Order: sequence, then structure tokens, then C-alpha cells
Amino acid sequence: MCGIVGCILKEDNDVAPILFDCISKLEYRGYDSIGLATFDEGNIYIKKDKGKIEEVDHKLNLSDMPGSFGIAHVRWATHGDPSKLNSHPHVDEDTSIAVVHNGIIENYLEIKEKLTLEGHVFKSDTDTEVIPHLIQKFMNEKFDLEHAVRKTIDIIEGAYAIAAISKNEPDKIVATRKDSPLIVGIGEEGYYLASDSPAILKYARDIIYPERGEIVIIDRDGVVVHDEFDNVVNKEIDTINWTPEMAEKEGYDHFMIKEINEQATAVRNTLTQKDNIQEIIDDVGDIQRICFVACGTSYHASLTGKYLIESLAGIPTDVILASEFKYSANTLNENTLVIFISQSGETADSLKALDVANQTSKTLGIVNVAGSSITRRAQYVIQTQAGPEIGVAATKTYVAQLTSIYLFAALLSKNVELLKEIEKVPDFIDETLEDIDFIKDISKRYNYARDFFYLGRGYSYPTALEGALKLKEITYIHGEGYAAGELKHGPLALIDEGIPVVVIIPPGDNYRKTMSNLEEVKSRGANVLAIGSSDDESLKAKSDDVIAINADVKEIIAPLVYIVPLQLIAYYITIEKGHDPDKPKNLAKCVTVE
Ligand code: AGP
Repeated sequence: MCGIVGCILKEDNDVAPILFDCISKLEYRGYDSIGLATFDEGNIYIKKDKGKIEEVDHKLNLSDMPGSFGIAHVRWATHGDPSKLNSHPHVDEDTSIAVVHNGIIENYLEIKEKLTLEGHVFKSDTDTEVIPHLIQKFMNEKFDLEHAVRKTIDIIEGAYAIAAISKNEPDKIVATRKDSPLIVGIGEEGYYLASDSPAILKYARDIIYPERGEIVIIDRDGVVVHDEFDNVVNKEIDTINWTPEMAEKEGYDHFMIKEINEQATAVRNTLTQKDNIQEIIDDVGDIQRICFVACGTSYHASLTGKYLIESLAGIPTDVILASEFKYSANTLNENTLVIFISQSGETADSLKALDVANQTSKTLGIVNVAGSSITRRAQYVIQTQAGPEIGVAATKTYVAQLTSIYLFAALLSKNVELLKEIEKVPDFIDETLEDIDFIKDISKRYNYARDFFYLGRGYSYPTALEGALKLKEITYIHGEGYAAGELKHGPLALIDEGIPVVVIIPPGDNYRKTMSNLEEVKSRGANVLAIGSSDDESLKAKSDDVIAINADVKEIIAPLVYIVPLQLIAYYITIEKGHDPDKPKNLAKCVTVE
């Protein structure tokens, strides 16, 4: 959903190569266009164009710009098509101010109309362009850059993280945020702004997190943060424990396959959160109802949580899509624990819901990105330990979320047996990954399909939904996940000769019924690709293909392991089709608009 970066170097060295390096690390946030603005000897220099970073750099040589401070942007288009004109940075008429923005200015049309009447001329279709014009208007009225930005945010409505430079106030970047992420990095060679930490890990790991409405001023001497009354705020400095290498491909072809391969480690590291989770359970007290709130993959992890908590702890549990949460707000009370699951911790739908839930209930965030908005606004936090996830399709963060949920459910219900089973998961995942070549070959054979179905019962139902989501988002093939027992109530009509049906069928209570559903689709001509136990001979006889998982993986922990082949199927079909799995079309890693 757009990424922004800013940097000012302490010495008078060229900042463009650093800006380019930092913004390249945020390409997962938007790949419609890229642009940089730097300042040197009284002028603002801009290079920008539509297209992926590599293409634009090839054309414009983005690292070759003068000046020791500047800002940069990658765009996920909301207002105006991906074009050079709509690319950031945006400027005022005489390029005295340049601005990068992540978010949406909801009242931009009325501001634009008003400014046009005052003589301002706009060139783009974006909502962002009103910002440099407003700053220019206030600077013309003799406000300095900081206060012109302050006056501007009094007018604009919506979500934003903004960084601005002015040629009339050199050696300074002014930034602010509301409902879009922004971090400030303090490095040895300079000071940095970014939408997300992977951008600046190589340069700064001491981080400040500005709150909504605070104004950040960075210059060659340091960082100052002002509150809305112009008072200096003494911000805490956190040190990120992620390393720059963690946000690199490290020899893999894509981030997605690297991250799939890191899943055992993600689970192992997240298991270290056990004591923290126990403390939260002890502290939270009497809970009569649990509500999970999330989007996308995190929603599927939440669904698994419902099955676990209701069956093990007997606490009524709902799972609500964050974008639909407000309709349930009246049902919350002080004995409800609302659990927000989010990889990024910045998803706008989830943040809006969190603000609502905080008014009545206890709130817990299960989040991968340290210091993100959900970690700062939820009353309790479980930090998943997946490390930075760059691929747009969530993989290792999903298993890390599941690990936290399993620990939570096991500790809540004092289920020692389940705790023992969870400990085995990293080895089961690594063992499954040993079959990667076999899964790759199978995936190639399913490349022909236009539609896929994924079936699972009980704990395997959310796995079916997640498998279908992975397929949709990166292969662009239509995939539907269904509760296996539900198929006969309508969707069975869609099953035809050769249609691939992926059946998730671990050994356990649901096995026999799922097998009946498998036979129903098989007898109607489906091409059945089953994910089941390695010792299941009957499954091998009845399916077209079987991906075998260690027979010791019990049904209850199957979601943590059986998802691995589904991720690989989506990945290898995408490669076969020639798409980029890390940057699927129309999507972005962090969805900061509602
Ligand atoms: C997952 O592959 C997707 N990219 C998407 O569904 C994602 O899970 C969703 O947008 C929620 O994001 P969050 O976990 O950062 O809140």
C-alpha cells in the first residue's frame, strides 16, 4: 500500500544510492511506480516513473542524483492510474516542495477545488498532490516547513504517513503520520524515515515510533519529535533484533520460497513465547467469550483458533473479518477477549476494529512486526517470531500465527499433550520440505486448471481456505476452499471431468467422512490431489496424486504442517506460469486503506 522513505546524511555525501537501496526493500508495498526527490544547491531534483523498480532504474539511473538528503516512494495506485504523472514525489507549482505519501486523503476533492479557485494548478489525478500545494500555501503565508505541515494535517482527512522537503528550508525533512505506518531510524551515518523496518535495517536498527499527529523533524544533527502543541516529546528508542540479511533473498529465487523454507525456524522461534503467553492468560482473568478479528491469511489462522479454543477450552469463540467487525461491536463486553491477528500490525481494517474493541473489551494482538500500530494499541501482545516477511503471500507468518494460537489454546486449557505435539512441528515441517522436488513435479501437472477446489473438515477446513487463497493470489487461478461436508449443498454442481480437487485428509476423527467426500468428487470426474498420511494406502488407491505427510502428524496439529505442500503448489504453479510470486498483481503486503 505504498512505501515511503526519507534520509538525511550527517556528511555531505550523495544520498540517492541509499534512498534507492532503502526504497527497493519496500517494493513489496507497491510496484506501480517509483520516485525519488533529492535536494542540492537550492534545487529539488526529481526522478520518477511508472513500472517496477528495476525497469524504472534501468531507464533513469535512480542512484545518480545530487544531494545529501531526500525522500522516495513506491506506489500502489489508489487515486489515478499508474503513470509518471501520478507517481510520487508530488510537488507544488515551482517545485519548491516535494512530498511522498502513503495512505488516502479522503477530502482531497474539496481541497483541490478550493485551491484551484485560489489559483493552484494540479497536474495529477492523485489525492496526494493537494499536500505539497497546501504546504506551499502555508509557507507563502510565512509558516516554516514544520508548521506548514502541521496546518496541512489540520485540513486533510484520512490516513497518511507523509515526508516533505522544501528548497526554502534545506537540510531538513518533516514527517508525520495518522493511521499509516512510519518509523524513524537513527544510524551512524544519518537519520532515516520508512514505512517499514526492512527498508532501513542495513543503515539503522535504533528506531523511534511516532504516534498519530506527532511531527518528526530530522536534520543533520538528529531527530526531534513534537506533539500537537509543539512540545518536544521524549521518545523511547527501540532496537530491532532483525538483521539486514533476514530481509534478503540469500540465494533463493524468490522471497516466497525462502520464507516457505524458513517455516520450521519461525515455529521454533515462536515457541519461545510460551512464558509470555502464560503471563497474558494469568493476567487477563475471567473470559467468557473470545473474538478473533483479522483479514486474509490471518483470518484463516483465526478460524483454526476457534476450532481449538472451543473444543479444548469450551469458551465460545467467534471469528470476524476486520472489515465487518463494527456490526458486532454491540455484542462485546468486559468479559470478551478480542484477539487481533496480523502479520504487519498495520492493516487498516484491523486497526479500526481494534479502536472499537478497546472501548469495551480486553484486547490482544498477535503480530509479527515489532513496534507496529497493533502492538502499540492492543492491551496485550504476543510477538510472533517469523522474522521479516517480504513476499506478498503470507507463509511463515501464518505458521507463526498458528503456533501462537496453539500455545494460547493449549495453555488456556492446560493441555500438556498438545504442548508436546506442538514441539514436534518444526521437524515435521522440515521433513515435508524434503519432498519439495516431488511437489514441484506434481504442481506442474496441475498448471492447466482454470478452477481448483480445496476440501477439508474440522481443523483442516481453514487449511483448505488458506490453500485456495495462496493459489488465487499468486497464480491468478480461481480456487475455492470448502468445508468438505458442505460441497454437496451446492458447489458439487461445479465438479466436472478433470477439475482439480485438493483434499486435505489427515488421519483422525474426520477421516472417514472426508474420504466419502473425496469419493463423491472422484466419481464425478475430479482430478483428486490428496494431502494425507504417508501410511494411508487406501488414499493412494483412491486419489490421482498423493502428497504424503509423516503419519505421526495428528489431525489436531495438521494445520501447521499440511499447509506447507499447499503453499508449494501455489508457488510452483506460479513459476510455471511465469508470474512473480513475490509481487502478485493488484496486491500489496500491507493493506493500510479500508
Ligand atoms: C496473505 O497472503 C495476504 N497477503 C493477505 O490476505 C493478508 O494476510 C491480509 O491482508 C492481512 O494482513 P495482516 O496479517 O498484515 O493484517
